[in-house]
Amino acid sequence: MAITLKSHREITLMHQAGRILASILAELSTAARPGMTTRELDHLACRWIQEAGAEPVFLGYRGYPACLCTSVNDEVLHGIPGSRRLQAGDLLSLDLGLRFHGLVVDAAVTVIVGDSVHPEAARLITATEEAFWAGCAAAQPGNRVGDIGAAIEHVARRYGYAVIADYGGHGVGLGLHEEPSVPNTGPAGRGPLLRAGMTLAIEPMLTNGSGETVVRPDGWTVVTKDGGLATHYEHTVLVSETGPIVLTMAE
Ligand code: MF3
Ligand code: CO
Repeated sequence: MAITLKSHREITLMHQAGRILASILAELSTAARPGMTTRELDHLACRWIQEAGAEPVFLGYRGYPACLCTSVNDEVLHGIPGSRRLQAGDLLSLDLGLRFHGLVVDAAVTVIVGDSVHPEAARLITATEEAFWAGCAAAQPGNRVGDIGAAIEHVARRYGYAVIADYGGHGVGLGLHEEPSVPNTGPAGRGPLLRAGMTLAIEPMLTNGSGETVVRPDGWTVVTKDGGLATHYEHTVLVSETGPIVLTMAE
């Protein structure tokens, strides 16, 4: 399928969907206290999506069994919620998508569970968010997809961290995964041309290890090969005439 440009109506709905998603992700981040299981977080996510008049989009996607992805410490993404109890100091990524009036938005955030101090994890989160904002700033009409990845990679390198290159972002909106794919690496100046009306999930994943990954036998959970910590930060972004607009913000 070619890259879709969204209509004004579709963008308005994605913006509404994005506000709902952002507030649910913020509530989940607050709810993630030590002692809680990741399955309990998933149940909250499913319930809050339904209460907002939206639908989960991960549930059933290629057989994925939950509304939410919960990836802890060395887990990079697609962690399946279960009986694991969160502990203070855990590095927890929450990745959530929803469909609202037919339009899909996708976002993720990484938090440290509890009130414990974990300087390395905090620095990794800062780097990942900064990498996102650098990638987002490159999401301008006339730029290319590779400019986003190059900007992300540049920030990660500056912090001395590795980008997880095996996974990346994607077009989103009419479905969860649309063209183009949005790698978290360069080179700049390559890949599809960005045009106003494109909606992209930009989602850097960083690690303090080598960046190599393996998939657990559950077929979903992606973990770092060397046990390094991993973080994930994602928003759905509109490429507009006036520059990038983040659709998945609470406001
Ligand atoms: N944000 C993730 C992605 O774009 C979440 C997908 S989870 C899945 O890959 F279960 F839906 F695959
Ligand atoms: Co995504």
